[in-house]
Amino acid sequence: MDDLLQEQIAYYRARAAEYDEWALRKGRYDHGPELNKRWHDQVEEVRQALLRCGPLESALELACGTGIWTQQLLRSSQRVHAIDAAPEMLAINRAKLLSDRVSYEQADLFAWRPQRQYDLVFCGFWLSHVPPQQMAPFLQRVAQALRPGGRFFLVDSRRAIYAGASDHSLRDPFSDSILDERKLNDGRRFTIVKVFHEPDQLGASLEAQGLRPSLQLTDSYFIYGWADKP
Ligand SMILES: C[S@@+](CC[C@H](N)C(=O)[O-])C[C@H]1O[C@@H](n2cnc3c(N)ncnc32)[C@H](O)[C@@H]1O
Repeated sequence: MDDLLQEQIAYYRARAAEYDEWALRKGRYDHGPELNKRWHDQVEEVRQALLRCGPLESALELACGTGIWTQQLLRSSQRVHAIDAAPEMLAINRAKLLSDRVSYEQADLFAWRPQRQYDLVFCGFWLSHVPPQQMAPFLQRVAQALRPGGRFFLVDSRRAIYAGASDHSLRDPFSDSILDERKLNDGRRFTIVKVFHEPDQLGASLEAQGLRPSLQLTDSYFIYGWADKP
């Protein structure tokens, strides 16, 4: 498992420069105007829900990547602390946002321990990369990082046909594998963890950490919502 989690970091380090193609539906992620619009509409649904969580003083973003969601968090939070294991991701995020309201930290989230509490903790497309046996301890640390009354907001992938790259093979929906093979634009291949969560099952994991979840699905692509710390 350790080797797999290191390969996952190596994959995202190597992918950083081409990562936004996925969000923008470009290159291998371009599935045509109709499906691209459906994707962007569903992203907008999540953005609006996140915006309604504000205004806030402080947010912690775990696995921040290139800043796609960091810039959304800045719309509702005075300050954002953004953590990622990949220095290439952090560099792109920093250069894109150029904001003195964002602080950055390079850390492996499986070794990370919260140093303080925040109004909001955010994970975008990260929980699906947490192996099942690491999920409870990870969510426990998320709960610790929230102030009483704070909110954990998440968005992640649903199992959907036209979500990934056109040259990625779809996993058998009945397989219980948690592994995905990913390719980069130059053809390099990596194996990573990818677990598709359902609201009921993920909600139960959040409740086990004392959080009060409210999760939902967009039409086809995403699971999103929040879990409040009483
Ligand atoms: C699917 S991307 C999500 C990025 C961003 N949250 C978004 O939604 O655009 C996963 C992110 O997790 C980071 N990552 C992978 N393994 C990690 C680890 N062990 N600790 C911290 N970050 C990690 C990657 O570098 C990458 O930025």
